[in-house]
Formats: sequence, C-alpha cells, structure tokens
Amino acid sequence: MLTTADLHPSLSDPGLTVMTFLNEATARYPQAVSFASGRPHERFLELKSLQTYLERFLEYLRTERGLGEGAVATELLQYGATSGIIRELITAMLLTDEQVSVDPRSVVVTTGCQEALVITLRALFGAPDDVLLVASPCYAGITGAALLLGVQVEHVPEGERGLEPEQVRSVVRRLLREGRRPRALYVVPEGANPGGTSLELDAREELLALAQEYDLLLIEDHAYAVFAPVTSPPSLKALDRDGARVVHIGTFSKSGFPGLRLGYVIADQVLHDGTGPTRLLADALSDVKSMVTVNTSPITQAIAGGMLLNCDFSLRRANAEAAGFYRENLATAHRELTRAFGAPGGPVSWNTPESGFFMVVSVPFEADDKALERSARDYRVLWTPMRYFQPTGGERRLRLSLSYLTPEEIRTGIGRLATFIEDERVRQTT
Ligand SMILES: Cc1ncc(COP(=O)(O)O)c(C=O)c1O
Repeated sequence: MLTTADLHPSLSDPGLTVMTFLNEATARYPQAVSFASGRPHERFLELKSLQTYLERFLEYLRTERGLGEGAVATELLQYGATSGIIRELITAMLLTDEQVSVDPRSVVVTTGCQEALVITLRALFGAPDDVLLVASPCYAGITGAALLLGVQVEHVPEGERGLEPEQVRSVVRRLLREGRRPRALYVVPEGANPGGTSLELDAREELLALAQEYDLLLIEDHAYAVFAPVTSPPSLKALDRDGARVVHIGTFSKSGFPGLRLGYVIADQVLHDGTGPTRLLADALSDVKSMVTVNTSPITQAIAGGMLLNCDFSLRRANAEAAGFYRENLATAHRELTRAFGAPGGPVSWNTPESGFFMVVSVPFEADDKALERSARDYRVLWTPMRYFQPTGGERRLRLSLSYLTPEEIRTGIGRLATFIEDERVRQTT
C-alpha cells in the first residue's frame, strides 16, 4: 500500500497546493465574483490570433531565415534545440522594450516562468547551506519550486513599497553570521505578486550594490513589466552594467496568454573552472532543462515568435490597452472600497499599488480558509488569504486580483466583499 509518508516530504506541505487553488477556485464557485486568480482578462485573448501568429512565424522562417518547406516542418514538428528556436526574437523584444542588449546564446526558452524558476534554482543551489532570499509576502511559484528542490528559503519582510535593501542587508548579515551562504535573492521589481508593489530606482540600485558587496545573484522575475507605467525605472537587468549580477526571467503568460506556457531566462554570466572561463550559465540551465522538459514546444514558440514579429518586438506597445484596462480596474476597486469604508487607514485598510493586477486589503479578523469558504458560499465573492504567500504576518490580510474582472464585476464584487467584511468582523468578535 502506498502511503503519503512514502512520498517526497514537500507533498505534505500546504505550499504545494496554492497554485492549484488559484487556478481552480474560480471554477469551483461559478456564481462568485472571483478576486482569486491573477489571470489576464479574456477580452485580450483572441482565438483567431493563434492562426495569424503561426502564419507570421512560418513566413519569417521561409523568407527571413530562408528555410525550405521540409526544414520549416522540421523546425516546428521535430524535437528542437534545448534552448529554444525564438531566442533572437526574444532578444529583439528585450532591446525594444527594456533597452537590454544580450546575446541570443544567453537565452533559454522555457515552459513558462515556472520552469525557468525550477532550472535556475537547480543550477544555482548546490550546497546544503546555500540560501534563497525572497520577499515576504512572495509569489508561491518560487517558494513552491524551492520546496520541491529542497532549497532553503529566508523571507525578508517587505515594506509599504516592496523589498527594502536595508532589510535584505540585515538578513544577509545574519545568515553569514550563522555560517550559511546567501546565494540569490528572488525579486519581482515591477507589480509584485501578491502585493502589487514596484521598486523605486534607488531601491533597485541599492539591491544591485548589495548583490555586488555580498556576492549575491538577483533572480529578477519580470512577469508584469509590460503593464508598468512608462515612467517606471529600468529593470534590474538594464541597471546591471557589467551583466554579472542579474538572472532575468520573463513569461508570455501575462503579455501574451497563459495557455502558451512559455517563458525565458537570460543568464549571460560566464562560468569559470580552475583554468578560466568555460561557458555561459545559460548553457548549464539548458543542461538542466534537457532533463526536465527536453525542449519547449516549438509550436507554442512559433506562436509567440509570430506575436513578437507582429508587434515589431514591443510587447509593451501591444499591451498598452490592457495596461490601461487593468489600471482602471485598480482605480475602480479603490473607489468602491473608499465608498464602503471611508479612506484607507481605519479597521479596513488597503494599499495603492501602481500596476493593476493585485492589491492587498487588511481586515479586522482572521482571513483564513474557513473565512474564505464562508465568503465564497454565502457572499459569492472569492479572494486569496495572504497567509498563502507569507509564513507570518498575513493572518489578517487578503489579496485581491483585479485583472480577470470588468469594472462592473469589480463594483458588484467589492459590494459583496464589504458586506462579508462587516458580517465577519461581527461574527469573529462575538
Ligand atoms: C510573479 C510571477 N511570475 C510568473 C508568473 C507566471 O508564470 P508562468 O509563466 O509559469 O505562467 C506569475 C503568474 O501568476 C507571477 O505572478
């Protein structure tokens, strides 16, 4: 008989079920307004675009790459290069959108950001005393990957505006005193999930300086960058002048569509052995990838490649309307919360991020699984307990995802949420 105790210990950890909850909760309560999952809105997902993008990529292979029909078929239908077939197109996009110039050889195309996180952690974390630093609260994809791989994690509490370099420094110093090695810091500088926070320029520069001082790598997850205001500071990768400190990870899940399951890592760090430079970190990541997914589906790469060609390599431009829609959703949520509770700062409070995907609401009661169930069943409104994203401090906070709803649904949803919050406060205090 197979028992749970026979399985890998990570499978008994609630951290491993968060992603499935987020993907499936919305379908479990179809009558509820769902502030639970951070999906792109379906008005921006068009089935017919698949055909357009695929045709565009095929034309590119034939005309710009000069491939004959047989070679085109091989490119799409065979096993392909482990590191991917659209690396040049991704670097063209990075140059256009991020002003980051990298060699296509430093790119590994992955099955979503999630695989990028897994292979990066696998390659970078070799010794038992190596520690990954993450913000608290933090995206469940990185902490779940670390759990699976047995990588030790230290949580650095976020301030109002996201990660604070001084807090990172004090955790790094403590780890060093304990004889452990802070190896890398995972950071989402733009529109972080779950807090929605974005780092100011000086915080980004201080993190880079800190990385230099303590020989840390920064794993930059840029999932929401295309929705940032045009005035937002450059990415960590763009600020990383010698290119040695930042491993940059991206995804097409929000800038394109999640069903592509497509992401990428930029790892241009040069690896050395005793005799000198050998190869790029990207090559090592590619070796890991070859044993995880062999290679990323060339068919979805072709669709993403066509999308990049179609928008002249600017996903920011292609997503300008979506970015405006998400920001408007955030403004609607703020207006409705203010209407229900007055200005933030009372017993019910909330943050005011710039990017429109996520926000956090503080409530005067335990926002746990039971409260969530009552909210979904009796009030028809879903949200995510912040305790899913942080080991401590999230007990009385909930995350609202605003991307998957229309302004009308947000008005209805916040109305229901306000009634739930009022009733739950009374329920839990009596
Ligand atoms: C911080 C962050 N990174 C990455 C992703 C997307 O990951 P994937 O490309 O695996 O869909 C998400 C989606 O929720 C996210 O919030």
